[in-house]
Parts: sequence; structure tokens; C-alpha cells
Amino acid sequence: MGGASVSSDLNSPFRTKTVEQSIRDTEEPEHALRKSLSAWDLTVFGVGVIIGTGIFVLTGIAARNNAGPATALSFVVSGVVCALAALCYAEFASTVPVAGSAYTFAYASIGELPAWIIGWDLVLEFALGTAVVAVGWSGYVRHLMHTNLGWDMPVALSGPDAGGHFDLLAFLLVLALTAILVVGTKLSARITAVVVAIKVTVVLLVIIAGAFFIKADNYSPFIPPAKPQPGGSGWTAPLVQLIFGFQPTNFGVMGIFTAASLVFFAFIGFDVVATAAEETKNPQRDMPRGILGSLLICTLLYVAVTIVVTGMQYYADMSPTAPLAEAFKSVNQPFFSGAISLGAAVGLITVSMILLLGQTRVFFAMSRDGLLPRTFSVTHPKYRTPYRATLLLGGIIAIVAGFTSLEKLAELVNIGTLFAFVVVALGVIILRRTRPDLHRSFRTPWVPVVPILSIAASLWLMLNLPAETWARFAVWMVIGFVVYFFYGRGHSRLGRSGQDAEY
Ligand code: ALA
Repeated sequence: MGGASVSSDLNSPFRTKTVEQSIRDTEEPEHALRKSLSAWDLTVFGVGVIIGTGIFVLTGIAARNNAGPATALSFVVSGVVCALAALCYAEFASTVPVAGSAYTFAYASIGELPAWIIGWDLVLEFALGTAVVAVGWSGYVRHLMHTNLGWDMPVALSGPDAGGHFDLLAFLLVLALTAILVVGTKLSARITAVVVAIKVTVVLLVIIAGAFFIKADNYSPFIPPAKPQPGGSGWTAPLVQLIFGFQPTNFGVMGIFTAASLVFFAFIGFDVVATAAEETKNPQRDMPRGILGSLLICTLLYVAVTIVVTGMQYYADMSPTAPLAEAFKSVNQPFFSGAISLGAAVGLITVSMILLLGQTRVFFAMSRDGLLPRTFSVTHPKYRTPYRATLLLGGIIAIVAGFTSLEKLAELVNIGTLFAFVVVALGVIILRRTRPDLHRSFRTPWVPVVPILSIAASLWLMLNLPAETWARFAVWMVIGFVVYFFYGRGHSRLGRSGQDAEY
């Protein structure tokens, strides 16, 4: 039990697991995942989850409602926030190469309660993210069926966004992905590689073909002047505008940040790469490459796509549901429009699948630590996957996807993710002090300056989210505290190790 905890008090909610202990836990055969992923797999994995509903759907909403053509700048803002966070994530992922992402990192650095908070927060991010993308996918599939086959889903089975009740397609998608993940990561990584190729091709098609249809007039005004937000005096206004007593507005310079806090969803996923550390052959070298590489590729593509589509179509006319396809329709290019819709429908499948994978891995890690029931971390004897956690969460998310509508959920996902970034950056600073001896194959530059900048940038985007999003996030976190103090604190393996010398 020597060195089981940096904190000498194992009753403390700030008790920490050592990094060695975290790695040792992954070696118990019953609770071990198969190590099969390379740097290339991780990059494909990253691009597979990053490009999704954000660029395919939210670009249109942000341009119409918040920033016009300057949405391209919003992507730059979000990209910078993510790059700062990625520099912190990469150090953690290369130092603590076990499943669980920011949750695991926090457990090894700040302590159990903060780790629980972040794990609970990641459950929200990935579960709702999976649902959001499944609903977006369903919309594209219905759109394709309508335009190509002239066939419409019954309204009642088209989901709340389409005026129905239950989104049957989104529900079925999540169930199918759950089955794939139970069978094994390697299989899903192969499927991912094919779908990622289709998705990147579609994005390049938008950029290259679309460039020929840009009209300079559409960029004027590039930053539309600020105007009062309709009905935006309370819950729906960005928190920062309420705090400083501004009249809530859309567009203008502040609109660029409001849009940035929404399109931030488009970058979610590079952090998911870190959740697969335990299944990576050489995490010390490959994790930083996978994370930073996929983030860089996506940032460049997003800025280019936004510049092209806002040049093709006047921002106020952009579609809030299928902006990329509609931009081509607006310049009389139905072939490109159809191809883009098809590629989006195929591409969103991998996004949903990888978010679901990240979700089950965080849940798995929390269960292995005893903060959630241990039964969920028993891996399948043949497939070596955490099948119980996957089946439980897949089932719940499928139902959520069936009943939810998109935009508000995306904002809730964003606030949760940004909060995780804050904790990770804090963790980098703390771990450098508490464990300066640990080998770090990737070191965040200029610590503590970069982590502090990362914290400030993440908080800034959080403040640009609506007050109602903050309220919903607070409710979720309060539930998490209740679960921790009534279950996790008493069942924690780390806490119990003080009594039965399990470690
Ligand atoms: N970044 C992912 C998307 O845009 C989650 O859908």
C-alpha cells in the first residue's frame, strides 16, 4: 500500500490515486482493455469524432443568429481555446496513459472529489453529445429520403425538432452503435477509418467546389452590426452580457464570441482521443500526436468551410438545418448538394459512435475505481470490452436521443466540456508540483502560463453561454454531489484501501 496516495489522509475527499496505481489497475486481467490502437488510429479517431454536427449544422445557426460571415473568426477563437486545452490534455494523456480522460488525470493530481466532479461532467458531455449528433444524423437521413425517394417519415416518429414526438431513426442508430461497441474497438476503428475518409472528402468538396461560387457582396458586412436580442433580456442571454448589465445583443463583436461558444461543439472530440489512452500501443508517443494532429487538421478545414459557405450565400438566408447542402442548392448545384447531404449522413455516424465510446470508457474507469458500482467495469471474456456499461448507457442515450431537440443540448454539452478543460489545466499545474519526477513524453510549454491562459479562455467561452445553460449545468452537478456523497465516497476503492490494504 506504500505510495497508494499522495494525500496522507485516505478519508479526505481530496485523496489522490498515484499515477503508478492508475496504471497498475489497468493490468488486472478482468478489468483490462486490449491495447490495439496506433497514432494513425488515434488521428483517424480524432478527425472521426471532431468533424460533425458542429460544422454541418451549427455553422448555419451561428451565422444566421450571431455572427454572419465573421463566424469564421468564431471558429478561430474556439480553435485557440481548444489548442490551449490540447496542450494541457496532451501532457496529461502522455503521463497518465489509462482510460478515463480528464477524470483519470484529475484523480491522479487534484483528488477524488474533483475527479468525480469531472467524471460526472464528462458523462454529461458524451451522453448528450451522442444524442445531439444522432438527432442531427436523423435529420439528414430524413432529408435524403425526402429528396431522393420522395418518402417521408411519419411526423410522430420524426422527433421534437420536426414537430413530432419520438425520433425513431436517432433511437435505432444509438442502439446499433451500442452493439458495434460491445463487439470491440478494433472493429469500430476500421469502420471509422472508411467513414472518416468519406467525411473529409465531402468537406474538401465544399471548400474546393464552393470556392467557385463565392460572391464578394456576401461578405459585406463581414461583422454585422450589433442588434438587440429578441426576447433576450433574461435566461436566454449570454451570462457575460447579463453580469455586466449590457442590453443583450446578437452580432457585433460580442456576437463573434457568442457564436464561438456555440460552434465550440464542432471541436469536441479531440479530448475523446485521450479516453483511448489505455488501448493505445505506445501512449507516451502517440497520444500527443493524435490529439494535436487531429485538432490542427479540423481547425483549418472549419475556417475554410465557413469562409466558403458564407461567401456562397448571404448569412441571413442560410439554412439552420443543412447549411452546407443548402448553400450549393442556392447556387443551383443540386448534385453537390445531394452528395454533401449523403456524406454528412454517413459521417455523423462515426461522431456519434466515438462519443458513445468515450462515454462508456469514462463510466468504466469510474466504476473500476468503485465510485460507481464495480459490476459495470467487468470486461467481456471474449471481446474485452466493458459491455455492461456500454449496454446500460447505450440504452439510456438511445431513449434521450429519441426525445430531445438539438441546440440547447449542444450548449449544455459545451459548458460541461469547457469546465473539463479548466480542471485539466489546473491539474497540469498541480501535478508538476506534486510529482515533478514523473516521466512526461510531452510537456506543456511555459507552465504555468499556458494552463492559466487555457483556464481564462475556457471560462470566457463559458461566460458567453446563456444563463439558462448555466442553470441546467448547476442542476446536473448538484445531482452528482448527491451521488458521490451517498455512494461513491463510501465505495471508493481508494478510500477502502486504507482499511483492507487492497493496494
Ligand atoms: N465535434 C463534434 C461535432 O461537431 C462533436 O459533431
